Amino acid sequence: MVRRNSIADLAAMKAEGRPIAMITAYDYTAAALVERSGIDLILVGDSLGMVMQGRDSTLPVTVDDIIYHTKMVMRGCSRPLVISDLPFMSYAQPSDALRNAARLMTEAGCQSVKLEGGAARAATIEALVAEGVPVMGHLGFTPQSVNTIGMKVQARESDAAARLLRDALALQEAGAWAVVLELIPAPLAAAITERLSVPTIGIGAGAGCSGQVQVWHDLLGLYEDFVPRHTRRYRTLGDEIVGGLEEYADDVRNGRFPTAANSAKMDADVLQRALGSLEGER
Ligand code: KIV
Repeated sequence: MVRRNSIADLAAMKAEGRPIAMITAYDYTAAALVERSGIDLILVGDSLGMVMQGRDSTLPVTVDDIIYHTKMVMRGCSRPLVISDLPFMSYAQPSDALRNAARLMTEAGCQSVKLEGGAARAATIEALVAEGVPVMGHLGFTPQSVNTIGMKVQARESDAAARLLRDALALQEAGAWAVVLELIPAPLAAAITERLSVPTIGIGAGAGCSGQVQVWHDLLGLYEDFVPRHTRRYRTLGDEIVGGLEEYADDVRNGRFPTAANSAKMDADVLQRALGSLEGER
């Protein structure tokens, strides 16, 4: 039987200096493909608001949305550890966080939740961890705060960099088992990673993190024109898919699909008898 990666496995990877690979996934098929790839962690991110729902931010995503997508992901994989995002305003108070994390873990079946924010979240993280909920933190560019911090590289100046380091230490102290570092200068991310005992997972934070996370659609090239700077496109599946759809439509329109090989056979006399019996009924 395949054993699911545990938080202890991820801690060991950090301790042994083995880089951690994490990717977002939002449905059964994607999770099954991640399983085949051997990637360590799946994030059911609230980025689903943008890449699955076509919204312009993560803010409208609900706990029910995350549960719906996490259930599909859980059916598709048995080895990667699955982390689900607590969406905007679903953890404003520790009591909200406890109620909603309980739903993500019991109804959807993820192994950890992720929430955004620094030292101000320490009490919430402590409350979750005390109840047995593993928490991944998220610092730097935190998409749920896009309207207050703007979509840009964070903590470029020394005051903000020192604050971010203090935040990272506060999350670890509160019991977070890992911290995502998004869109911060690479040397700062490396310095934080050196000072934390828990893994850091970077996105747009350079190579000095314990691991990396990328959004499925960015990594696999599902969009025609949008390539964030922090992404490398490993495939251009968008072009592949459009090419396949165009060929399919052309074959249908020109009578090349389906062929006999795609169709079920019937002996002519069987059909004749069927048609004849209908004639008799007239
Ligand atoms: O929602 C998400 O996909 C994320 C990653 C970008 C880390 O939070």
